[in-house]
Amino acid sequence: MKFNYTFISMLILLLIGSLGFAADANVSELVVSPDWSIAWQFVDNNIEFTLMAPTTGWVSIGFNPTKMMKDAEYVLGYVQDGKLVVRQDYGTGLFSHKPVVDLGRNQEITEISGTQDNSVTTLVFRLPLHWGKDSGIEFTKGQSFKVLLAYGKDGSRNFTAKHSKKKVVTVTL
Ligand code: HEM
Repeated sequence: MKFNYTFISMLILLLIGSLGFAADANVSELVVSPDWSIAWQFVDNNIEFTLMAPTTGWVSIGFNPTKMMKDAEYVLGYVQDGKLVVRQDYGTGLFSHKPVVDLGRNQEITEISGTQDNSVTTLVFRLPLHWGKDSGIEFTKGQSFKVLLAYGKDGSRNFTAKHSKKKVVTVTL
């Protein structure tokens, strides 16, 4: 009888352990610096991004610029009163971006969550695998992208303030 209990407990522990591993195995991550990272995973017909940055202001990611910030497809977001506020922009100039809705397009972002903890903001959202009409971005496993990352200074809960930190990286999904 004692053997049975030990055996069953071990089986349960093994099962919990393998479930945790299976969930994490799908998530990829790129760490820029402590508290500044992006993580992504494919979920159904979407890709889910988690952006984390050491700010209480805006946090953003931009895909496929042609030069500096131009022609990139952006998601910008911040947390206001515990709620996520996001906007999809397009890089209209070397140092400028406009909401896609002002350019006659629809915003294609599924909001998941926005949290702020010890001055670190975390945004979670999903994008369809075919995203961004003008740049025709296809999110597929193994695909590499030039990615712009940036965040605003503490308290910049808006889409207009310039970045306090920015970085260009290559991401292989
Ligand atoms: C109103 C908002 C913004 C303004 C005024 C702005 C302005 C600028 C300017 C003047 C530069 C040239 C370098 C410098 O002076 O720092 C730059 C570069 C850059 N910006 Fe922005 N920016 C804005 C928003 C964004 C957003 C939302 C992102 C999102 C990821 C971003 C990402 C970058 C990156 C990664 C670079 C470096 C590009 C490179 O070196 O190729 N910016 N920005």
